[in-house]
Amino acid sequence: MSEKRREILVTSALPYANGPIHLGHLVEYIQTDIWARFQRLRGHRCYYVCADDAHGTPIMLRAQADGITPEELIERVGAEHRRDFADFAIGFDNYYTTHSPENRELAETIYLRLKEGGHIVRRTISQAYDPVKEMFLPDRFIRGECPRCGAPDQYGDSCEVCGATYSPTDLKNPVSAISGATPVERESEHYFFRLADFEEMLREWTRSGHLQPEVANKLQEWFEAGLKEWDISRDAPYFGFEIPGAPGKYFYVWLDAPIGYLASFRNLCDREGLDFDAWVRPGSKAEMVHFIGKDIVYFHALFWPAMLHGAGFRTPTAIWAHGFLTVNGHKMSKSRGTFITARSYLDHLNPEYLRYYFAAKLGPHVEDIDLSLEDFRTRVNADLVGKLVNIASRCAGFITRRFDGVLADALPDEALYRRFVEAGAEIAAAYEGREYSRAVRLVMQLADQANQYIDEHKPWAVIKEPGRESEVEGVATEGINLFRVLMIYLKPVLPVTAAAAEEFLAVEPLTWADLERPLLGHCINRYRPLLTRVEESAVEAMLEASRGDLQKPAARPPAQEPQAQEPITIDDFARIDLRVARVERAEAVEGADRLLRLELDVGELGRRTVFAGIRKAYDPQALGGRLVVLVANLKPRKMRFGLSEGMVLAAGDGKEEGPFLLYPDQGARPGMKVR
Ligand code: MSP
Ligand code: ZN
Repeated sequence: MSEKRREILVTSALPYANGPIHLGHLVEYIQTDIWARFQRLRGHRCYYVCADDAHGTPIMLRAQADGITPEELIERVGAEHRRDFADFAIGFDNYYTTHSPENRELAETIYLRLKEGGHIVRRTISQAYDPVKEMFLPDRFIRGECPRCGAPDQYGDSCEVCGATYSPTDLKNPVSAISGATPVERESEHYFFRLADFEEMLREWTRSGHLQPEVANKLQEWFEAGLKEWDISRDAPYFGFEIPGAPGKYFYVWLDAPIGYLASFRNLCDREGLDFDAWVRPGSKAEMVHFIGKDIVYFHALFWPAMLHGAGFRTPTAIWAHGFLTVNGHKMSKSRGTFITARSYLDHLNPEYLRYYFAAKLGPHVEDIDLSLEDFRTRVNADLVGKLVNIASRCAGFITRRFDGVLADALPDEALYRRFVEAGAEIAAAYEGREYSRAVRLVMQLADQANQYIDEHKPWAVIKEPGRESEVEGVATEGINLFRVLMIYLKPVLPVTAAAAEEFLAVEPLTWADLERPLLGHCINRYRPLLTRVEESAVEAMLEASRGDLQKPAARPPAQEPQAQEPITIDDFARIDLRVARVERAEAVEGADRLLRLELDVGELGRRTVFAGIRKAYDPQALGGRLVVLVANLKPRKMRFGLSEGMVLAAGDGKEEGPFLLYPDQGARPGMKVR
């Protein structure tokens, strides 16, 4: 390794302080932790910081509902988060909170510099206001009847029953979800950040290799749509930082959240005597890398670099987005038991398994990843137990029983060892480029070769032949050294197993530089199983417990009884043109959290675009290529996001469960009539 020593600040997005860490979150923290550990293993200086995202309306209301102060709530949740992360071996150098003095100071500094630069403007806007609770209502805290189908108890932005989208003012009989009062319109002055001032800088920055290509393309669309002013203030009551010089106005949670990265790092610098300013000034040689989920790209790739640049700080070296986790092919769901919290996983399974499985699935792109529990079990058992630790367990006994625990003085097959070491360059490149799946595949190929080597030399048979003992000593020494190389390669993924392996090998913590010299003439410890198999019963128990976690839904007004209707005739039914269609493309709709935009191939009827309210139950990526049933002669409907040309059939109870799409059976083709 002739590379010079890099200085790297790494972050993961800050989890909200009002809910538990779940397996979806862990995709991100595990992905980031592997990268940070890899950098340290290679001898670089790498600080990994994070924090709880502690501000905002939901946290304020949640604390009120629990009868505690927001400070008490974030303290309690923060402690749970820390414990969960520690148990998954997420090796933060600092885990802080956005509700900190450092963050207040940095947020004020950044805001005031932006204001001095003329990038903050004030404007009066009108918003829904709860006259009883005496507060403005975010959209998701307004409920009412769908203006289109009349379904009761729908959110302020769209209908879960018919998929209609609208603005909160369109809702019939709207009520505040907090007090039940009828909201009124009220005016208030807000502060806006003029993002468009930074368009040129952002266009340039976007083109300069800081983003994944697919994210850069997405930004291109956003530039074309025009950069809008960003509302960065909220009225009291609000849990957050009051805006300097604006009594009763608070920074919107998303303003001070990314600043929380710097505040957490500042807190670490003060503790460890590091020069914070040298890391964050423009032109700093240090790298600053943010790992995030695909849902928060806008905040990180537009607002954040613009804020930093406008306030005289360095901009990020990279923003790396990952996709979302699905479990058994679906969005995580409480009723299926697949909304699995970090804690229920930990109660039943070894965290190293999940780290390995995610690594085996993670690539550098913004693709969703699926945790198929069946595949998880077979993969972990085959790779980690069957291949990796098997190498050590097959060789260790000979050394311990026959040679007083001491390895031979030379390797019988130097060339094989060298080949293992040489593979390190490609494995390192894979880690660096976040192609963990490739790194893992390369390591497992080597594990196969190591096992093959042992199979060919049959130490268990040779040991029975008099006078051939030293051969066995050699083979076992070779095997243990190959195992040691693989453990170095997997140490970023399996830190706890690596520590146990270091104990078995009786060595100091392994680093990448240790590859060069094999372990010879060295006394090792008795082998104890490093990892055991994943049992199906443990997976089942975890799912069962997660179903048990299912919280009772918040009290809602009773759903309307279905109306008794006249039976229809066959002719009535025949008027509905039902067709088989194939999903060509499915994507989330910006600004509507229940909708997917589907592009459908309907055979002879051509192509159709349909907006379907199925985002809760389906991940868009999982739908591509699937057949669905389309109501093809429904009058096209203009929605806020475009024209919806039909409706796809799905089943659900209109509340908790579903909607679940209906699929035509094998053999059906796009365009076929359904009757
Ligand atoms: N608080 C904001 C982030 C502020 S960063 C300055 C937030 N919090 S979150 O708790 O909702 O999500 C934290 C991270 O976890 C985000 O990057 C998000 O994309 C990621 N994930 C949350 N659910 C996820 C999945 N189901 N799958 C993969 N990642 C997911 O957003
Ligand atoms: Zn509706």
